[in-house]
Amino acid sequence: RAEAILKELEEKCATPIGKLRQVADAMTMEMHAGLASEGGSKLKMLITYVDNLPTGDEKGLFYALDLGGTNFRVIRVQLGGKELGVIKQEAEEVSIPPHLMIGSSNELFDFIAAEVARFISSESEEFQLPTGRQRELGFTFSFPVRQTSLSSGTLIKWTKGFSIDETVGEDVVSELTKAIDRQGLDLRVAALVNDTVGTLAGGRFYDKDVVAAVILGTGTNAAYVERVHAIPKWHGLFPNSGEMVINMEWGNFRSSHLPLTDYDDSLDAESLNPGEQIFEKLVSGMYLGEILRRVLLKLAEEAFLFGDTVPPKLRIPFILRTPHMSSMHEDTSSDLHVVASKFKDVLGITGTALKTRKMVVDLCNIISSRAARLSAAGIAGILKKQGREFTLERQRTVIALDGGLFEHYTLFRKSLESTLAEILGNEVAPFVVVIHANDGSGLGAALIAASNSQYSELEV
Ligand code: BG6
Ligand code: GLC
Repeated sequence: RAEAILKELEEKCATPIGKLRQVADAMTMEMHAGLASEGGSKLKMLITYVDNLPTGDEKGLFYALDLGGTNFRVIRVQLGGKELGVIKQEAEEVSIPPHLMIGSSNELFDFIAAEVARFISSESEEFQLPTGRQRELGFTFSFPVRQTSLSSGTLIKWTKGFSIDETVGEDVVSELTKAIDRQGLDLRVAALVNDTVGTLAGGRFYDKDVVAAVILGTGTNAAYVERVHAIPKWHGLFPNSGEMVINMEWGNFRSSHLPLTDYDDSLDAESLNPGEQIFEKLVSGMYLGEILRRVLLKLAEEAFLFGDTVPPKLRIPFILRTPHMSSMHEDTSSDLHVVASKFKDVLGITGTALKTRKMVVDLCNIISSRAARLSAAGIAGILKKQGREFTLERQRTVIALDGGLFEHYTLFRKSLESTLAEILGNEVAPFVVVIHANDGSGLGAALIAASNSQYSELEV
């Protein structure tokens, strides 16, 4: 029975190259539809108002605040222009107490503003602003936002385990500004960016060939540079650059070509946001461990894999995290003792047979390969939209990646990279480079704040 369950999962999760091409094509099509009209697609293709990416000329002291990944971070960066680059960068990380993710708007923003106040109050003398100047900050807010300008925008919905109804529809910059005022801080929010957009800007600062950024972490999403001519729904001014960064919100992508299983359907139905973020629920770090738990539970219930009774911890949603899964998947010991110890420590299951442990490694492989291969198909879809999948004049094309899943789950990352090469083929693959833009989003948000600084006229 256990073998049959495993085999069925393997078949349902299969992502042969033909299927990946269909997914990539569907992604490209949905991108067109989302750019054509508001609500034209599951892909929101949000306009970011970022029509210029960093040039390297940015100068001055800027702050960034990063909310929406595993940790909340405050960053300060001293930019020295072309000659000096990033002179100094410092960051502090705090995890958001889970009750604040589902509490009230004021509580969440007060917590954030208090951390910013603490960060600033402990600042050393070397980070001095020119007298009379106000501090300026780029706010990386990693949720879908309908921007009304570079520094304002309303929350469309929460994702990734956050759920505070009263914030939906509100301008998150004004929520943050009010909380900053309550702290008595003199600080201006100069830019509001998604983490993908921050990563794109941070990546571009170091490498001018970066044209897209992808986050593979708690959630997943992508942003890329689009030609304004190709955005029918944009009715604003035509920027000099002729370009606009688009936040795809690809986590909400959906297609009949996606290899969905009953486990995915029930995970979705029981989630905080049923029917939404389907691609994210197949791919991102918040969910991979949970998919594995659901398969293990079925094996326990129907194939008695762990004895006559179902181990009670196996019934607890989200108990098995993706970092547990990656360390089990990457267990190279002959007796698979990492698998055994995770089972004991996390699930309270002892005495697993070697055969069972091997099966667990296979399960990890099936679930993570599906995720990695689908992410690669998503990237191929973007390259196709940009006309970079078979250009005659070969251009170097760089994609900046970040997020805990990409950074820490080595087998996932390898599978993503080899699958992308497989989809692109031998001719094109050598021109497409994936880089890890480590914490690029903080730098990127500070750079975008710099480009929107109230003092930028004075610098020239
Ligand atoms: C960080 C970026 O490195 O990765 C954040 O700086 C981003 O902006 C985060 O949100 C996503 O990864 P994770 O794993 O923390 O969700
Ligand atoms: C979720 C958010 C998106 C973010 C991504 C990665 O999908 O909706 O805005 O970019 O997670 O953090």
